[in-house]
Amino acid sequence: MAENQLAPLQIDPATNPELASRINAILEEHKDKPGSLMVILNEVQSKIGFVSEQIQQFIANSMRIPVSKVHGVITFYSFFTTRPRGKHTIKFCMGTACYVGGAPQLIDKAKQLIGIEMGKTTDDGNITMEECRCVGACSQAPVVVVDEEIHGRVKPSKMTTKIRTLERQDSEG
Ligand code: FES
Repeated sequence: MAENQLAPLQIDPATNPELASRINAILEEHKDKPGSLMVILNEVQSKIGFVSEQIQQFIANSMRIPVSKVHGVITFYSFFTTRPRGKHTIKFCMGTACYVGGAPQLIDKAKQLIGIEMGKTTDDGNITMEECRCVGACSQAPVVVVDEEIHGRVKPSKMTTKIRTLERQDSEG
């Protein structure tokens, strides 16, 4: 199993004391602030990397609020993920300029090459594919963001090379 791929046990604070103590520290620090739920969920996403259903339950219990409230926030904002992301993330801008400029064709090509659906991570934990909103580089549409680096005017051939490089890096690495 790849190092960043976590077994179900590891995404559940009830059975993973280290995870529970990291979340407790975040809860402790922020729970009395206004808008605390959003702040806590943001912190968990950025420090732990995901907010699994088990973590949502843990936070709801600790804050004495219904888990549906936590779940509502997680599903509303697209930057929350319920599973750990892969080592590399490829985001496809779905803003108007990129959409019109060929994003759907790039996505089809990437799905074919990587063998996963949008929003999923490869079984080896190497690559996650996601959609994103406009990243402000519309003049370079279509835009693909690979590990936070923006690539503009991406053609299917260029994307193929990039994906193969990511896959090679992992097998070498
Ligand atoms: S629409 Fe893609 S960068 Fe703006």
